[in-house]
Amino acid sequence: MPDRGFDVEFKCIRKRYGSIEALRGVSISIRRGELLTLLGPSGCGKTTLLRTLAGFVRPTEGEVWLAGERVDEVPPARRNVGLVFQNYSLFPHMTVFDNCAFGLQMRHLDRSTIQKRVEEVLNLVHLAEFSGAYPSQLSGGMQQRVALARVIAIQPRALLLDEPFGAIDRRLRDEMQVEVRKLQQKLGITTLFVTHDQQEALIMSDRIVVMNEGRVEQEGTPLDIYDSPRSRFVAGFLGMENLLPVTVVRRTADQAIVHVTEGPDLVVPLRAAPQGDHVTLAFRAESVSLVRREESAGAEAGEASNVLSVPGTLEFLMNLGARVVYEVRLPDGKLVRGEAQRTDRTRAFGVGEPMTVTLKGDYCVLLPESGAGT
Ligand SMILES: Nc1ncnc2c1ncn2[C@@H]1O[C@H](COP(=O)(O)OP(=O)(O)OP(=O)(O)O)[C@@H](O)[C@H]1O
Ligand SMILES: [Mg+2]
Repeated sequence: MPDRGFDVEFKCIRKRYGSIEALRGVSISIRRGELLTLLGPSGCGKTTLLRTLAGFVRPTEGEVWLAGERVDEVPPARRNVGLVFQNYSLFPHMTVFDNCAFGLQMRHLDRSTIQKRVEEVLNLVHLAEFSGAYPSQLSGGMQQRVALARVIAIQPRALLLDEPFGAIDRRLRDEMQVEVRKLQQKLGITTLFVTHDQQEALIMSDRIVVMNEGRVEQEGTPLDIYDSPRSRFVAGFLGMENLLPVTVVRRTADQAIVHVTEGPDLVVPLRAAPQGDHVTLAFRAESVSLVRREESAGAEAGEASNVLSVPGTLEFLMNLGARVVYEVRLPDGKLVRGEAQRTDRTRAFGVGEPMTVTLKGDYCVLLPESGAGT
């Protein structure tokens, strides 16, 4: 059995439920101590894949390896993985201490080892003083920390977290994300994390696998995925709201000159750019900037450059506390979404007014045209 430092390997996993293909050949490896996140929309197969590792779902095809052992035939209880999901699933009639001790008693550890181990894990999740409390006396966030302590106590070979913060309110969730990530790094536990929240995936992960319809769309570090999506699906899912059809006028070794709208062309760096002349220009709303036409130096005709500055008309404007979001129509009818800090400058914006839209080519990515793949 090859050991390349991978703790978990999914090899060509397929799972069919009657006519539904939940997984269509997924291969993923997780290194020892790594936190790998499955990110994707509802129904893309994240939970199904995680459950093939926990042992609750049997793959139709493929192999699951854990710590150098093929585990497809190993019953869930003997895999020694720790599973936490959205619903805390604590035993309501047991104290925090007893909830954490339960798995250790099932493993027939002696009383003093159990005492010591439970104290340790409750310290780790900052709940030592609640060891005598019942779950109903704790907040949702605290219950989820108990659920985590309980699985860490068994010293699992891998930690499986399926939307663990899904039921926790936003503010507390932000704290828990950082706390759980720190704990995972401190303990060096190989972790498979599942979420449909891109922000959460970016915060938590060493590596992200973006899934779509039972397949892997793209795999990489959080910054890879964020900066260099390779499909319209990944770009859209990670918040690149602008996906404009454009034409490639010319390519050099590391740049493409693209025709976006009437006026000068835009120079865009070539990463893993698609073939062909008809491509999609993808960029985030926050990469767009907008000024009133009368305040701009005026869009100049001329050479292609890495900054596009073109006239547009403001069509929609929404103030969201500290931010404003807007839509502006380019001369050829394309609609661009932008976002900015709300300032005195943006306060003077009015719908229907002539504006100048600016976009930096360095913040743009070229992707296949719509219809070509996803
Ligand atoms: N036991 C089952 N029987 C039949 N179909 C199932 C079963 N479990 C999952 N599916 C189907 O498999 C597909 C993938 O489901 P899965 O729960 O893995 O998605 P998910 O990515 O975890 O979604 P969510 O974000 O909503 O949790 C879906 O179409 C789902 O309806
Ligand atoms: Mg799920």
